[in-house]
Amino acid sequence: NWPEKVTIKEVGPRDGLQNEQIILPTQSKIDWIDQLSDTGLSYIEVTSFVHPKWIPQLSDAVQVAKGIKRNPSITYAALVPNERGLEAALEGEIDDISVFMSSSETHNLKNINKSISDTLPVLKKVIDGAANGGKTVRGYVSTVFGCPYEGEVSMDQVFRVCDQLFDYGISEISLGDTIGVASPRQVASFLESAVKRYDLSRIALHFHDTRGMALANVLQALECGVETFDSSLGGLGGCPYAPGASGNVATDDLIHMLHKMGIQTGIKQEKLIKAALLMQSFLEKPLPSHQMAVYNAQ
Ligand code: HMG
Ligand code: MG
Repeated sequence: NWPEKVTIKEVGPRDGLQNEQIILPTQSKIDWIDQLSDTGLSYIEVTSFVHPKWIPQLSDAVQVAKGIKRNPSITYAALVPNERGLEAALEGEIDDISVFMSSSETHNLKNINKSISDTLPVLKKVIDGAANGGKTVRGYVSTVFGCPYEGEVSMDQVFRVCDQLFDYGISEISLGDTIGVASPRQVASFLESAVKRYDLSRIALHFHDTRGMALANVLQALECGVETFDSSLGGLGGCPYAPGASGNVATDDLIHMLHKMGIQTGIKQEKLIKAALLMQSFLEKPLPSHQMAVYNAQ
């Protein structure tokens, strides 16, 4: 009962680069995103319009958004925390606005400096403003499978936040395993409850591979009916406000698994490798994915 086709949302230029020590020059980011646009990806999260003191790596968000070549068949997305960020994202002509918050109070506070109840009205304003600007909105909910500060998070707590965001009118929720603690059993039991409340075509999963569990969790989610996954080329990524968080499941590893299973993604592996090599040259280090380890050993 695996799907024939899966949608992959590339988050490397945002989740990947926000967690690197090095701040890349704007032109390098643009060159990399332009190469990603040539791989067959249909969705690329290119930056985030957050406070530059909080994420200095992405302080050139407007220049990046304005500098990239747009492929009309690709949706270009970015993270937006508040109305100030939305204004900049609209100026940057971002197609899909991603709001974000946590299902756990402490991570939410550390990451966006507000309680959950104070965050929701801010996101509602962003969602309304984006809709007025003719944009679609995606919502990230973090720490769904565990919080670095609070440990386990109850499903009720996650559903409360998701219900609220769907009520505000977002098109899709991406459930974040921010610190890579989920297991396939936990994913299955979560999705068995989620499918009773939500149409799974509006749910994406965002696994970080901190403990090497991401592909196992993707496989479980596929079996439960999820068909959209976030990933980062080469396995870059992590949230600077979640201690110990490391990279997303690698796009190149994910499509290797899917293609081997006969599941289509529309993405060309050799073009991904080319884009990964470009990033390796910018960062002057090998990227952490399995596919790049194989490639680099040849
Ligand atoms: P704050 O300091 O509470 O903001 O930060 P504020 O509203 O009190 O404003 C303070 C000052 O910041 C003001 O300037 C604002 O104008 C300015 P002043 O009047 O003092 O000169 N300001 C801004 N400047 C630029 N862009 C903005 C902006 N907003 C306010 N958008 C804020 C609150 C949310 C802005 C801050 O906490 C922040 O930027 N946090 C971002 C943290 C972040 O990006 N984390 C990583 C992304 S989330 C993630 O990785 C998880 C995910 O991958 C899923 C998963 O893995 O689970 C998505
Ligand atoms: Mg993430």
